[in-house]
Amino acid sequence: MNWARSKVLVTGGAGFLGSNLCHELVARGARVTALDGFLFGGGANPANLEGCDVDLVRADIRDADLRPLCEGADVIFNLAAQTSHMGGQKDPLADIAVNAVAQVRLIQAAREAAPNAVVVHASTRQFYGRPSYLPVDERHPVAPPDANGVSKFAGEQYWMIEHRTAGRPVVSLRLTNCYGPRLRIRDARQTFLGIWMRCVLEHRPFEVWGGAQLRDMTYVDDVTEAFLLAASTPQCHGQVYNLGGSPPASLTEIADMTVGAAGNGATYTTREFPNDRAAIDIGSYHADDRAFRQATGWAPKVDLKDGIARSLNWYRTRLPAYL
Ligand SMILES: NC(=O)c1ccc[n+]([C@@H]2O[C@H](COP(=O)([O-])OP(=O)(O)OC[C@H]3O[C@@H](n4cnc5c(N)ncnc54)[C@H](O)[C@@H]3O)[C@@H](O)[C@H]2O)c1
Repeated sequence: MNWARSKVLVTGGAGFLGSNLCHELVARGARVTALDGFLFGGGANPANLEGCDVDLVRADIRDADLRPLCEGADVIFNLAAQTSHMGGQKDPLADIAVNAVAQVRLIQAAREAAPNAVVVHASTRQFYGRPSYLPVDERHPVAPPDANGVSKFAGEQYWMIEHRTAGRPVVSLRLTNCYGPRLRIRDARQTFLGIWMRCVLEHRPFEVWGGAQLRDMTYVDDVTEAFLLAASTPQCHGQVYNLGGSPPASLTEIADMTVGAAGNGATYTTREFPNDRAAIDIGSYHADDRAFRQATGWAPKVDLKDGIARSLNWYRTRLPAYL
């Protein structure tokens, strides 16, 4: 796809993944509208779009008039979501309002205002639940462990129905744990690695819950590249893909890499999962993402050790904006 002068809508554009995508799209010459409601507890941060020439619209997909925002879009990257698992447990109605009901609003608005737009939807590995085998491919049974998994699955499926019934080119990427610059690091709401990075940068010990669970973390630049490839590869349209990342590593190994990358004598302690978290924990996960790699030629370029070091370096000079 020729991104130069293409018209792109990024929902959740002030969040972690959405803002990184905005930066890359602008660098490639796209005209970008970033829609974000700056939801409390999410990853939205005005600093995420600093120096990025996007048209930022602060609006909520649950009630905004979405048609003018979709008008004439060539591509819609759909990343707005309620992403907190504990938040979804506490308030499942608010969770489903964003992740499912508002998705239908966006589908209807896009049907009228951008009937030909390609949609890349940010989905999640979460709704596979506790894996019954590893690595997890797209045929793995869906068994959401929490309310957020249910709403995210519903949202994805509404988009796939739009492909099947209206012929819209839709790609859904089921992401694993992503990390890198512009991640929310002020607390543990967005990936354990966020709060770990904050702690080591502040010379404080961090906590590892459990420790043996495997994760296949994806560095954000690799996620961005996957979104762009998903949009521009016609073979992907109508498909649901897992997106993995670095080779699986245990949380303890990731903690050791974080301490090593910090290089300042940082330490951590290991403890059992708190009960409310243990109830929705999925154990070990890593993706079989061969289908997406084969379709697009995508492969992660940034390995975990390097990605953690890059992330820490990025935050060193910007910490106050992220606390
Ligand atoms: N980061 C990951 O590891 C990961 C893993 C799996 C799936 N995902 C998916 O990727 C997408 C982006 O995640 P992220 O990590 O960047 O999260 P994020 O919280 O940083 O970004 C989501 C953005 O959506 C916005 N938003 C939420 N509800 C909204 C609403 N009603 N109206 C307008 N904007 C709203 C938030 O303000 C936030 O900026 C989400 O759909 C998420 O489910 C992310």
